Amino acid sequence: MIALHLDNVSVTYIAVPIFTSLSWEVHDDRCVGLVGPNGAGKSTLLRLMAGQLTSDSGYLNRKSGLTVGYLRQEPDFAAGRTLWEEAMTASPRLAAVETKLDACEQRLSDPEVYGDEATLAAVLTEQEKLLAQFTELGGPAYEGKVRSVLARMGFGDEASLSLSTDVLSGGQKKLLGLAKLLIVEPDLLLLD
Ligand SMILES: Nc1ncnc2c1ncn2[C@@H]1O[C@H](COP(=O)(O)OP(=O)(O)O)[C@@H](O)[C@H]1O
Ligand SMILES: [Mg+2]
Repeated sequence: MIALHLDNVSVTYIAVPIFTSLSWEVHDDRCVGLVGPNGAGKSTLLRLMAGQLTSDSGYLNRKSGLTVGYLRQEPDFAAGRTLWEEAMTASPRLAAVETKLDACEQRLSDPEVYGDEATLAAVLTEQEKLLAQFTELGGPAYEGKVRSVLARMGFGDEASLSLSTDVLSGGQKKLLGLAKLLIVEPDLLLLD
């Protein structure tokens, strides 16, 4: 089955065409290599497939619900985080639910909330919904998964986990970027 289909797409950077009328299909359960000289447009094509760029013309169709992960040629991370902290940000959806759960807990300790039956009931309902989402997104097993994926990438020891991402080598950054993708298991993995 076709996972992703590009139909006659063209991308132009500041009047310079990178590719025109390009059509391509990526099928399920395939491992595909894309080869070309520097500047040919490989990264541009992958960014288009990842949805980070839009084409000037043509169509891009993804199989319904297809999740795509893109590993940049040179991954970069927000400054000031440890390798462990960065890996824990791999699932932005889970992080968003956790932030909302924290806010709920804060509200539950507020006298204005727990002192008022209706408000308290509303916050408890909200918390219940968020906890269900947290479980659905694999929240309870998340830390364990992050730890095991990082260990597979060679970051099993505490010293590596507490390294600042600012001091990682290019190769280590790539491994961390790959780990973050493997943690969320996208259907289509684009490795630049
Ligand atoms: N953001 C951009 N703005 C302008 N030109 C760009 C941009 N990104 C890439 N290019 C140009 O597009 C061409 C293709 O780049 P790229 O897709 O990175 O090639 P590859 O990955 O095959 O080496 C190059 O000539 C590059 O300079
Ligand atoms: Mg490239």
